[in-house]
Amino acid sequence: MANIRIRNTGERIEGHENVAKFLEEQGVLYEHWDTNKLPEDLRGNCQINDEQKAQVLSIFEDEIKSLAERNGYHKWDVVALSEVTPNLEELLKKFEQVHVHTEDEVRAITAGNGIFVIKGSEELGYFDVELSAGDVISVPVDTPHFFTLREDRQVVAVRLFIDPSGWVAHPFQDPQFVETK
Ligand SMILES: [Fe+2]
Repeated sequence: MANIRIRNTGERIEGHENVAKFLEEQGVLYEHWDTNKLPEDLRGNCQINDEQKAQVLSIFEDEIKSLAERNGYHKWDVVALSEVTPNLEELLKKFEQVHVHTEDEVRAITAGNGIFVIKGSEELGYFDVELSAGDVISVPVDTPHFFTLREDRQVVAVRLFIDPSGWVAHPFQDPQFVETK
């Protein structure tokens, strides 16, 4: 289940109801999928091949279609990052820059962990959403954010798009972020 850390104050928000309420107030969609649906060899496994990625999509087909219908997403895929990913650290450095997109950024974590750092309301500033397997999040269009891994340095996530070409990162220069990092 996701937890929140407010960067300005160090305050933490934990527990499904509190996290869900906080994210709703910030306009961030949050839901949970049951990763116990995954067969044992895929549970917690972030070093997966294309066949296994297809298996993940088929196991969560109902959840994906429900989310897609509710929010107008048309395409989806699976991304896996782990120590076997070439140039993982370089890739993460590229990720760890505040940016915006012209459409929502939707991620359903099916194994491993991740963090979305998101810009909240003006008075709140940036907050971290610490995600683990089963957590589903949609960062709204035009909301400054970035994604990175947690201590385990691995993740598998289903990504949903309105149009994958809309998922281009536009850098967002924000002095406030530097101050609160
Ligand atoms: Fe992004």
